[in-house]
Amino acid sequence: MRLARFLHIFLVVSLAWLGAFFANAEDPYRYFNWEVTYGTISPLGVSQQGILINGQFPGPPIEAITNDNIVLNVVNKLDEPFLLTWKGIQQRKNSWQDGVLGTQCPIPPGTNWTYKFQLKDQIGTFMYFPSIGLQRADGGFGALNIAQRSVIPIPYPTPFGEFTLLVGDWYKSDHKALQQTLDKGNLLPLPDGILINGRPNGFTFTGQRGQTYKFRVSNVGIATSINFRIQGHNITLVEVEGCHTLQEVYESLDVHVGQSVTVLVTLQWSPKDYFVVCSSRFTKPILNATALLHYDGSNTPASLPLPIGPTYQIHWSMKQARTLRTNLTANAARPNPQGSYHYGTIQVNRTLILANAPTKINGTLRYTVNNVSYVDPDTPLKLADYFNIPGVFTLNSIKDTPPSGPDALGTSVVGTMLHDFVEIIFQNTEKAIQSWHLDGYSFYTVGYGSGQWTPDMRKRYNMADAVSRDTVQVYPLSWSAILVSLDNKGMWNLRSAIWSKQYLGQQLYIRVWNNEKSPYTEYDAPQNVLLCGKAKSS
Ligand SMILES: *[C@@H]1O[C@H](CO)[C@@H](O)[C@H](O)[C@H]1NC(C)=O
Ligand SMILES: *[C@@H]1O[C@H](CO)[C@@H](O)[C@H](O)[C@H]1NC(C)=O
Ligand SMILES: *[C@@H]1O[C@H](CO)[C@@H](O)[C@H](O)[C@H]1NC(C)=O
Ligand SMILES: *[C@@H]1O[C@H](CO)[C@@H](O)[C@H](O)[C@H]1NC(C)=O
Ligand SMILES: *[C@@H]1O[C@H](CO)[C@@H](O)[C@H](O)[C@H]1NC(C)=O
Ligand SMILES: *[C@@H]1O[C@H](CO)[C@@H](O)[C@H](O)[C@H]1NC(C)=O
Ligand SMILES: *[C@@H]1O[C@H](CO)[C@@H](O)[C@H](O)[C@H]1NC(C)=O
Repeated sequence: MRLARFLHIFLVVSLAWLGAFFANAEDPYRYFNWEVTYGTISPLGVSQQGILINGQFPGPPIEAITNDNIVLNVVNKLDEPFLLTWKGIQQRKNSWQDGVLGTQCPIPPGTNWTYKFQLKDQIGTFMYFPSIGLQRADGGFGALNIAQRSVIPIPYPTPFGEFTLLVGDWYKSDHKALQQTLDKGNLLPLPDGILINGRPNGFTFTGQRGQTYKFRVSNVGIATSINFRIQGHNITLVEVEGCHTLQEVYESLDVHVGQSVTVLVTLQWSPKDYFVVCSSRFTKPILNATALLHYDGSNTPASLPLPIGPTYQIHWSMKQARTLRTNLTANAARPNPQGSYHYGTIQVNRTLILANAPTKINGTLRYTVNNVSYVDPDTPLKLADYFNIPGVFTLNSIKDTPPSGPDALGTSVVGTMLHDFVEIIFQNTEKAIQSWHLDGYSFYTVGYGSGQWTPDMRKRYNMADAVSRDTVQVYPLSWSAILVSLDNKGMWNLRSAIWSKQYLGQQLYIRVWNNEKSPYTEYDAPQNVLLCGKAKSS
């Protein structure tokens, strides 16, 4: 009896110890303490208010490895509420950590809150940024790069080094001024410039002749698609937002708002400096930012002219988008081929057609999705769901297909069941490009086309090797179609990545649900969960 009990305790203790050992050995913890402050920056030569993280603009990069656990304490020293969202990080079973107003209360000024999440089964180039209002127009954004675990081979030789490029449009006005412009019913003007790592020109990447480097390029801007190219050098695409692509060679690549691409570049020419160019797409005039690719040891400056790129050619971009395809034999973050998931053979059980347009509600400018312009409730949707608080949202407060109106303010939540396989068509009724992002997931970008989508367009979908990513562009007066397997329970934000439109209502939430309360499908609320709105008295 005693022996059995001893053995039992021995086993339990040693298993717990082993478990802890393996959890540590396999999934390390990375700790961060980030102080968020205002500070003066002058990226375009004019002093303005910036949002700094630990004094830095852009914010510090997170360099991590698949399955790392992130424990990141945010100390909000701004004069307003603050949240960071982790774009492209899937937060499996854990929409609690997603950092948007639908899933958590904002961190009040003068306080701190600690994010805890795992970078589960993801490899690739991602980013973080402030999610409230237009704060991200002041900075606070940064790179989130996830490398593979040592046991997982990647489908290309290990590069000699790597560089991160945070590229985005920039305004000389601070976020409060930009918000006022929108609140008054005006659109934002053309940005004042484009920045690469916080500078319109002169940022230098130094490499050695004969070596191949990885360039991680993310569009951290709020409105403008960019074209990325390097003078005299072709670029080989290897990854988009966590999906290993067929390694096609390009002279330049379009990167739309909220998107990331990873490319390889070999420094194979005569040693000198070469211009790295990021120019705006679909704008008049064209805005440019340049950086330098410097061959170590050379002292020959880069020579003009800048390499030319596409400017307004929409068809060019759409054609290029269709060439982005998954390498079906490459590993994913786990050692199983991505191609083993035949998305093209799965029965779609719901189609959402989301049309979006500007409108006036009560005389002020708003943007709608299927005639509803989203307004954040005081109580985060996730908390309302968790505490069964009525009166915050209703399911299916938005129609699956564009209704005949009228336009209204609302809190749109699409109710879905865990494991539903959903087709979403984004129908762009505007002459401006759009970009749509879904939190918690990556989705298959199966089709792009001009004009009005009809069911007939399904014949043109790529049902074999479309890339799976988290942000898709929708060309002017065009449509884009995605397929998504809703296998991550939670409350997930589907939004325009064009931030002024998101701010003015072009967003909604997808509630992915089942009736089982279990940590196998969704984690419980974190211990430090903040309570606000109607959840405060629960
Ligand atoms: C705030 O930071 C302290 C440590 O600096 C930490 O113990 C505490 O949990 C944090 N608060 C929240 C709500 O995460
Ligand atoms: C696809 O991945 C395989 C396996 O890693 C790699 O050997 C191959 O070069 C890749 N093919 C292309 C076209 O990218
Ligand atoms: C880039 O690729 C194109 C097409 O593959 C080729 O014509 C061109 O010569 C290449 N340029 C350089 C600089 O390698
Ligand atoms: C950006 O560069 C292009 C040529 O690549 C040029 O036509 C355009 O005028 C430049 N824009 C500005 C604002 O200098
Ligand atoms: C318009 O404003 C009035 C008065 O503030 C308000 O009662 C009404 O609900 C508003 N309508 C919409 C669609 O928001
Ligand atoms: C509903 O939205 C569509 C675009 O999505 C728009 O064309 C239509 O005018 C709206 N209906 C009303 C009544 O506002
Ligand atoms: C949708 O399809 C999935 C997988 O094919 C299935 O598990 C689920 O029950 C379906 N849902 C509905 C509402 O039909």
